[in-house]
Formats: sequence, C-alpha cells, structure tokens
Amino acid sequence: MPISRTTPRGLLAFQLIPMETIVSKRKIAQNSLPGSSITVGLDIGYGVTKAVTTDQIVTFPSVMGHARELKFAQEDIAERHPGDQIMDDEGAWFVGDLALAQLPPGELLRLRGRTANEATMGNAFRLRLAKVAIGKLVAGMWNRDIVHIRLASGLPVDHMRDAAELKAALVGQHIIRTDTAELVANISEVMVMPQGYGSIYAMSLSEGGEINRQHTYRRTGVCDVGTYTVDLALDDEGEYVDAESGSVESGVYTAQERIAAVLERDYRQKMPFKIVEEVLRTGVFRANGQPVDYSVIVEEALAPLRSATLSLLGEKWHGGATVDVIYLSGGGAELVYDDVQAAYPQTQLLPEAQLANARGYLHYARFVARQG
Ligand SMILES: Nc1ncnc2c1ncn2[C@@H]1O[C@H](COP(=O)(O)OP(=O)(O)OP(=O)(O)O)[C@@H](O)[C@H]1O
Ligand SMILES: [Mg+2]
Repeated sequence: MPISRTTPRGLLAFQLIPMETIVSKRKIAQNSLPGSSITVGLDIGYGVTKAVTTDQIVTFPSVMGHARELKFAQEDIAERHPGDQIMDDEGAWFVGDLALAQLPPGELLRLRGRTANEATMGNAFRLRLAKVAIGKLVAGMWNRDIVHIRLASGLPVDHMRDAAELKAALVGQHIIRTDTAELVANISEVMVMPQGYGSIYAMSLSEGGEINRQHTYRRTGVCDVGTYTVDLALDDEGEYVDAESGSVESGVYTAQERIAAVLERDYRQKMPFKIVEEVLRTGVFRANGQPVDYSVIVEEALAPLRSATLSLLGEKWHGGATVDVIYLSGGGAELVYDDVQAAYPQTQLLPEAQLANARGYLHYARFVARQG
C-alpha cells in the first residue's frame, strides 16, 4: 500500500505505527467491493449507534472525543477497537468503546444535550457517527474506492423538523478515513422517519421490502425503551397519531446510574460502564473474581424505568383497548417486558429488540426500492 497519503495527526495507526505493519498484522476482510451499492438501516441513538445491512450488524456507543497520543500498546489498543478512530475536517477522533476506554470522562462528547445549536451540532455529530458506522460496515476498503449507499434512518419524533437538515448533512460524497478503511461513500439517497416507525416496519415489512401479510393490525403501537428516553408512537392504518405518541425522560441509564452508585458505595471506586452494564444484564458483580449477587439491587434500580414506562403508556393509551398490538423495542425492552405485558397483553417483545429500528429502516429502504 503506497505511503504517499497525508497521515492525519493523532490517528493511532497512522501516527505511531506505519500503516503497513498494522494492515499486515490485521488482515481486515473486505466486506464490500469498490463501486458496489449497499443499503443501510442506521439508528443513531443517544446511547448506542446501530447499523444493519443484509449480512452485517454494527453497534457502538454514540460517544466520541478528540484523539489522544497514547504512550504505550497503541497497536494492541487499535486491534481491540477496530474502526473506532476517524479523521475528518475537525481533526482526529476516538469514537465508541475506544473513546470510553481511553478518554477521561470530561473529554467525552455525547449526542445528547447538544443544546447550543441542536440541529446543526446534532447533525454534524450524527454525520460523524454515520461515517464511523459505514467505515465499520466496509472495513478493509482502501485507496478511496467508492461505495454507493442508500441510507434509511430516523429521528426522535420531537426532532423530525430537523429531518431535512439531517438529509442535507448525510446525502452526497463523503471521504471516510478510519483506522480500518479509507473510502468515498456516495450516499445517493437518505430516508428519515420518526424513530418508532423503524420497529413498525421491522414487523410490517419483510427483509426484502415486501408487505408482511401477517401484520393485519389497524392501530399499531411502538414502545421504544432507549438509553435516555422511552418513546411511544402510534400508527393508525399508516397515519402517525401525534396525540397518542410521546416520550418520557427515562431510560436504561436511570438503572445504570443507580447500579453504578451502589457499586461505588460498596467498593469505594467508580466502576467502568462495561461492568455496570454487565451487572444490569446478569444481576451478578464479580468482586475480586468472586460472583456477588446483586439481583435485588438491579430490581430496585429498574423500578423507576418500569414505572415511567407504565405511566407513559397509561397517559397515552390508557388501558390499551384501542391499540391492536404493542411492539416493544429498544435495548431496554427485555427489562420492562414482564411489567408491560402484564398490563397490556397485546404486547410483543421484538426479536433483537435493540436492533429493531435499524432493521425496520432497512426493510423500508427495500420497500421503497421495490416501488421503483
Ligand atoms: N439485553 C439487554 N439488557 C439490558 N440492557 C440492554 C440490553 N440490550 C441493550 N441494552 C442497553 O440498553 C440501552 C438502550 O439501548 P438503545 O440502543 O435502545 O438506546 P438508544 O437508542 O441509544 O437510546 P435513545 O433511544 O434514548 O436514543 C443501552 O444502554 C444498551 O446498552
Ligand atoms: Mg433509540
């Protein structure tokens, strides 16, 4: 591989170890051929970014920070976090798990709370996350080969007025330079819908974009339990019903925060996010290698999320008599399923619930393509 490209400041692989060394050691399977076209379903959450294609799934935390010079084990670190380094006009960035692992909390930037100029800042942030996701989907593509992309995505209902701006930010040719790819992404088409519709299309359309004849419901509800928000969307025979849709400021992070606080109290140290997540999922904390039962703590930590979800459902759909089916999606779906199902028997937990929106966006993009 020619060395004659300009090496950007701060990108681990380029800066510290000549690219060839990394590439030869890290045989990166080429996922897409130059000039090929791919369709991508992209769900950029406040906590986690999810991207799916026909045969690939990419997920990483929606967090980033300016790249840092690492004094040691650069190669090993780059190996652990392939595709988490990107270079663009605003410099070199660590993204996702690499950012969480190597940057101090104060240097971490999140999509959430980009108060200043939500739309523009938010869309610039979303564009960088989208480029990282694409870089991971076509890892191993170099030499600025071009890949054509049809992209379907979503925005929180309250941000749908920024849809046109998001489309404008995403559509077009983008140079993507990461530690595992350097290509030109020609995003030829962008579709943006209210986030919850992803979960509806995941069930009402097939992967090929055909209408799912099984999905005969007239009024379909989606309850998307995310990191920072729980979102409800109601669709009445294809029409979005705003009055019966809405969000509440609660999410899986409320449980993660409580568990983190208890662990810090019990072990007098701040726990890495990964460990908090594991305790939430398993109910077990491994102290000095020994399993400690935290299931009671986890149940208590989940109470606010469960009651916030039920009260939002009650506020928007009352007893649920007028909602034919409720699709439960998002990373927190499993955590509230029993409570929601008990109150609303028409509830269905979507398979791989965290990826439901992204999968539905992909189905929708296929559906549009079929309309020709
Ligand atoms: N099976 C699971 N059990 C527990 N937590 C999970 C599970 N799957 C995912 N999560 C966690 O659920 C959280 C929410 O995930 P999700 O991807 O839906 O959030 P998001 O879309 O980023 O958030 P938001 O919708 O608020 O923007 C994440 O913190 C994720 O790590
Ligand atoms: Mg979400």
